[in-house]
Amino acid sequence: MSTPTILREGTILPEGQVVRYTFEERACHWVNGVTYLFCMLTGLAFYSPYLYWMSYVGGSPATARTLHPWVGVFFFVAMLWMHTLWKVQMASIPEDQQWKDNMKYYIENRDELLPPAGRFNAGQKLFYWVMYYAAIILLLTGVVMWFPELMPRNLHWLLTIIIPIHAAAALVTIGAFIIHIYMGILMVPGGLKGIAYGRVSEEWAAHHHRLWYEKIKKDSR
Ligand code: HEM
Repeated sequence: MSTPTILREGTILPEGQVVRYTFEERACHWVNGVTYLFCMLTGLAFYSPYLYWMSYVGGSPATARTLHPWVGVFFFVAMLWMHTLWKVQMASIPEDQQWKDNMKYYIENRDELLPPAGRFNAGQKLFYWVMYYAAIILLLTGVVMWFPELMPRNLHWLLTIIIPIHAAAALVTIGAFIIHIYMGILMVPGGLKGIAYGRVSEEWAAHHHRLWYEKIKKDSR
């Protein structure tokens, strides 16, 4: 049996699979991922001489310097795109509090002790909001650093504050990103397949996002 090309999130497929991410959500996620990685690596290269070699992801240190702010703008636009797709589902729900109170079981990978989660658990929501607000701070501070000559001379001292804010926001995203990769790839097998191909098994959905799965089942009746 052929399946339609455009599948809505939550569609139950005949082979015991569920659509976790639509094509648009996956495209948006990977544009975000690639642009973020580029900015992270080139940014780290400018941050410390020990990491200068990372600037070669941009071809050469000079091109990395030119591309970093441009790709940063693309990352920000991708983040806005993600926001239009997920802002409603990333909002807190009452069940999130119970999940947060038991977050240690998530960290210890003892999912069976966790309260049921919706499409996104409270940890994933926290990651999302950290990235969203950090992206705004990075854009605002980054634009000032990009065009310092447009700043009135008597305000140039502000750069001594803006540059560390930019670096601090970037470091926060790096910490969050490392946890995202660790949880998404190593701790929750099957998650990467979901964000790559859009589908997860019904068992995966019921195990990791039970409230979401129960809603899907109810809606499909
Ligand atoms: C480039 C490397 C990246 C990899 C390998 C990766 C991996 C993943 C995986 C495996 C999932 C699915 C988790 C699930 O459905 O339970 C996911 C979802 C997600 N990713 Fe990424 N990701 C990357 C970069 C990013 C970046 C830079 C952002 C920036 C905002 C991001 C934001 C999200 C969000 C908001 C979700 C949905 C909720 C969540 O799982 O946190 N990802 N990612």
